[in-house]
Amino acid sequence: MISLVTGCAGFIGSHILNKLLQDGHEVIGIDCFTDYYSRTIKENNIRNSLENKNFTFMEKDILDISEFPDVDYVFHQAAQAGVRASWGTSFDIYTRNNILATQKLLEYYKDRDLRKFIYASSSSIYGNVDELPIHEETPKKPFSPYGVTKLAAENLCNLYYMNYGTPTVSLRYFTVYGPGQRPDMAIAKFVKAALTGGAIEEYSDGKQTRDFTYISDVVNANMLAAHSDVIGESFNIGGGSRISVNELVRLIGDAVGKDVHVKHIEAQRGDVRDTYADTTRARKMIGYLPEIGIREGIKKYVGSLTLYQ
Ligand SMILES: NC(=O)c1ccc[n+]([C@@H]2O[C@H](COP(=O)([O-])OP(=O)(O)OC[C@H]3O[C@@H](n4cnc5c(N)ncnc54)[C@H](O)[C@@H]3O)[C@@H](O)[C@H]2O)c1
Repeated sequence: MISLVTGCAGFIGSHILNKLLQDGHEVIGIDCFTDYYSRTIKENNIRNSLENKNFTFMEKDILDISEFPDVDYVFHQAAQAGVRASWGTSFDIYTRNNILATQKLLEYYKDRDLRKFIYASSSSIYGNVDELPIHEETPKKPFSPYGVTKLAAENLCNLYYMNYGTPTVSLRYFTVYGPGQRPDMAIAKFVKAALTGGAIEEYSDGKQTRDFTYISDVVNANMLAAHSDVIGESFNIGGGSRISVNELVRLIGDAVGKDVHVKHIEAQRGDVRDTYADTTRARKMIGYLPEIGIREGIKKYVGSLTLYQ
């Protein structure tokens, strides 16, 4: 089995890459090291994989590639991530890396003999919802430009499935965290502040809630989706750990073993109030069950940090 992992040097892509290599599969990875965050972090993410003879790395922008490799599976993780940076002139980068790049891959693979095209979708496609938990049929009202691009790309996956039979599956990740996590994400920033004695900057009143998903559960969801017979579907991939940001800060304090200082700052445009995934469909159709709760996950993340320093 040969897989293509796009965005293979990023947080989630590098974990999927590791898992595939550990399982003895051949992997081709594409990443162009966008400047959204430090290249050094991304190089570290793939350092060990580069020594594996089953891994071929293409440092390329998806939009500059005319011939993609012949593979059985595509794990399409590449994107311009982040909600708050997606306003203004940056939207150009979001449309390019999220919509155009996805269309390019789908267009290329639509006539190929592919077993599965797995797209990294996002809870951000739902926006602010009227009812929790969020199930797959909950209306999609993205609240940020980023969410608009993630929904557009998911719609592209659906229409290539409907028109060409491209075997797409979209996994709607709910806030993913764990070793190697992006430095702009709350848990990474909070843990860093807690360890260094700095103030944790909480947006709004801290009562907003998130469903946090540990990285190994997201990797597992990708493997289950790849090996199932399901195509043309979308699934919520949550961690079953909905907590408020205030509670999250307390857990981080416990894990780090220090008092944490919190500074409240204004809510950010594009940030939704609450997320909470109903993962029943993923459980029934691909056998997905999150295994790592938030308390355990935070401990694992804090424990892993020395490896990444
Ligand atoms: N991290 C989360 O909480 C979360 C939640 C929901 C959805 N997602 C989605 O999961 C995927 C991975 O997210 P992440 O947190 O690992 O982000 P990340 O920024 O760490 O990884 C994305 C990678 O894609 C690469 N990339 C971007 N555009 C490219 C292009 N045109 N050509 C080649 N490479 C390109 C970047 O260099 C980066 O290494 C994204 O699609 C994101 O939208 C993430």
